Amino acid sequence: MKQAFSLLCLNLGGPSSRVAEQLLAAGWEVAQAPDLASAARLQAQRRFAVSLLVAGAATGVPESALETCVQASSGSEWLAVCEPEALDAPAFRELVLGSFLGHVLLPLDLRELEALLRHAGQRALLRQRHEADRRHAIDELGMVGQGPALTRLRHQIRKVAATEAPVLIGGESGSGKELAARAIHQCSPRSAGPFVAVNCGAISPSLIQSELFGHERGAFTGASSERRGFIEAASGGTIFLDEIGDLPIELQTNLLRFLQEKTISRVGGVRNLHVDVRVVAASHVDLAEAVAVGQFREDLFYRLNVLSIDVAPLRRRKEDVPILAEFFFQQCAAKGKTATRVRGFSRQAVTAMLAHEWPGNVRELFNRVQRAVVMTDRRLIAPADLGLAAVDNPVGMGLDAARTVAERDVIGLTLTRVGRNITHAARELGVSRMTLYRLMEKHGIALDSESRPHATPAWPAAAQALRDPPARLIDAARDVFAADAPQTAFRADWSRAGKPAGRA
Ligand SMILES: Nc1ncnc2c1ncn2[C@@H]1O[C@H](COP(=O)(O)OP(=O)(O)OP(=O)(O)O)[C@@H](O)[C@H]1O
Ligand SMILES: [Mg+2]
Repeated sequence: MKQAFSLLCLNLGGPSSRVAEQLLAAGWEVAQAPDLASAARLQAQRRFAVSLLVAGAATGVPESALETCVQASSGSEWLAVCEPEALDAPAFRELVLGSFLGHVLLPLDLRELEALLRHAGQRALLRQRHEADRRHAIDELGMVGQGPALTRLRHQIRKVAATEAPVLIGGESGSGKELAARAIHQCSPRSAGPFVAVNCGAISPSLIQSELFGHERGAFTGASSERRGFIEAASGGTIFLDEIGDLPIELQTNLLRFLQEKTISRVGGVRNLHVDVRVVAASHVDLAEAVAVGQFREDLFYRLNVLSIDVAPLRRRKEDVPILAEFFFQQCAAKGKTATRVRGFSRQAVTAMLAHEWPGNVRELFNRVQRAVVMTDRRLIAPADLGLAAVDNPVGMGLDAARTVAERDVIGLTLTRVGRNITHAARELGVSRMTLYRLMEKHGIALDSESRPHATPAWPAAAQALRDPPARLIDAARDVFAADAPQTAFRADWSRAGKPAGRA
């Protein structure tokens, strides 16, 4: 066998089947499919690293069917060997341009095809390695990321999961508080029980008491039958009280009683019901401050805050941005939301994502990727597809200035990646700790500040505006991109977009 990868050869039309014969004669191992149905059968049995379409002057099948076949094997690198006339059909041309790694024309130059096959094989192996690494970065809790902040979070989740005490999760909007709450439940001895998520901020104050605690028949107009509330529904499991800071103060008293005595009474009821439920709460506002201004009961705060976990904002764990983006990209691909030609992110897109401050955190990243995969016309997603400004190359700047910018960026990004640990950063950068301190002082990088690559002066004025709040971000983005990429003229509030509304 000539190759370390599996090869499928799909023959569509004309005298082209001789291509497979020539490959077999030259020592290649080839699985042959004379039509789309056979290709589908073979693809269902095994994954081919490389797929070769051999096309006559006309393939004899609709391009849409061919595209479906290509899409069904999205992990495969596709190559085409075709009669020159086949490329006269615009739809076929588009498919080859968008979804194929390369093509050669008939009559066949076997050496040319073999070189292309070897190249495709290498790419396929590289892709497999990359996917294996990515799988490694996704745990059984559905949390993606490898950086120190996420490692610490996973560790804390496993620790608190083993106990029964309430947990308070803090973190900015979209940072992953609910995901952390679900993970706590999943790791806990209650995992076989229900996980009930209640968004306290999304239920109207007039309903929230009966929604949480349930009601007896006739408790109020319209209460024609008794009803269990969310707390009872979570019996044996975990209740997740999201946006707990929005709970009206009188209900805070009821909740405190439940936490202290493990009993509730339904609206209109006289019985005290014992309920076995663990409470996990989250808030994006600082509850200690809410206590200070009298909006949150101090005793409830201390009850809830027995164990606390903070989910770091994405800008403080930028090392996870590329891996999260790739994860969301694959999610979209698996749901068939991406055009087959889109293979991933361009290097510029990754740089732009690393430079962005992510005010809407992981949810914003998900939304931007989701939009980019639908809207892009390119094989590799560009910064503009993500609604981000391309980070300027330091062209036009003197060498000294360019070196200074590069030095500052690499120090900033390394510090972010290693969780701002000076020893680790110095080791990675190949300098002593003292030198690193000196360089940080030179560039004005504080240990507790965040990395802002190209803070000044590398960012053009319009791009700088993109780092400001969402409304301005969109206007500035329109100005920046209007000239060369009209498809990016969109409006969105990335920080809140896609956030599930009023779910209980
Ligand atoms: N580490 C992660 N890996 C994979 N997906 C993540 C991660 N963190 C967050 N997400 C995803 O990002 C989105 C937002 O996360 P989540 O709803 O948990 O945030 P939140 O902090 O509860 O937001 P909010 O304060 O707005 O309610 C979800 O789709 C979630 O699955
Ligand atoms: Mg939430």
